[in-house]
Amino acid sequence: GSLTGLDLRAEIDRLRKERNAVILAHYYQKPELQDIADFVGDSLDLSRKAAATDADVIAFCGVKFMADTAKILSPDKIVVLPDLDAGCSLEDSCPPDKFKAFREAHPDHIALTYINCSTEVKALSDIIVTSSSAEKILSQIPMDQKIIFGPDKHLGGYMMRKTGREMLLWPGVCIVHEAFSETELLKLKAQHPGAPVAAHPECPPHVLDHADYVGSTRGILEYAMAMTEDTLIVATEPHIIHQMQKQIPGKTFIGAPGADGNCNCNICPYMALNTMEKLYIALRDLEPRIEIEEGLRLDAKRSLDRMLEMAS
Ligand code: 13P
Ligand code: SF4
Repeated sequence: GSLTGLDLRAEIDRLRKERNAVILAHYYQKPELQDIADFVGDSLDLSRKAAATDADVIAFCGVKFMADTAKILSPDKIVVLPDLDAGCSLEDSCPPDKFKAFREAHPDHIALTYINCSTEVKALSDIIVTSSSAEKILSQIPMDQKIIFGPDKHLGGYMMRKTGREMLLWPGVCIVHEAFSETELLKLKAQHPGAPVAAHPECPPHVLDHADYVGSTRGILEYAMAMTEDTLIVATEPHIIHQMQKQIPGKTFIGAPGADGNCNCNICPYMALNTMEKLYIALRDLEPRIEIEEGLRLDAKRSLDRMLEMAS
């Protein structure tokens, strides 16, 4: 039926109680979804929350690999994703059969894998990392251990430069972070002398080279909270600026631009598929639901559990 006239906020609140549901949201979600969520976080925070919740239903406002992770870690919960087409270019860049062949071509390497991948690729990996835990986890791997890192070549390359370690990189990229323009960023910096740049490690090196801080979405938010300057240039998906404006009133946050000089081309098209309407329907119908075959789930859980242990 038609949703016009419904007070979606009130309806979502009512259903959340009725279903004993927890609403988890990523910082790249629309402001209204961040605002109605019980918890907003980066990929590691959201995995930990999903693993620890005592709710019966997890409504995941994020992309599919995040909802899959919630289901892998909390198989007895119903996990709904408002739009099942909310994918990720990094996941798409790494088909499981090709990743399997890559592993088999390098049998003396372990696979350290970014959480932005499919459940099948997690099952083929040894240890999962997020942007906030990658360095800590890498530092616990013996220096003589050879490593394959996928699917994000920019996060992998950044860690190699930062730690001085070699890794074999899978050639995937995030289309959002790939779209920032160095030329436009330099113009923006010139217009705001003294404003630091905070960037996500999914950005290419020519953007990271200009960053004063590199970290996960939560890391960038914490950097913004601690900074003494009045203005911050934010080189990640611009919806995080909503959380900055909410938590740090009175300061100015400017999204780093793409080649067209504004930051709208850096909105994640997958994250943007989730809406209040679809969240309402997901809570009402308990669909679309994430289901994972049990053998596959257990294989993927091994590499995720190692992340949770090593990141703690
Ligand atoms: P984090 O929130 O872990 O930094 O991840 C960013 C991202 O691109 C999620 O898709
Ligand atoms: Fe994937 Fe990039 Fe969108 Fe994150 S921002 S979900 S990495 S496409």
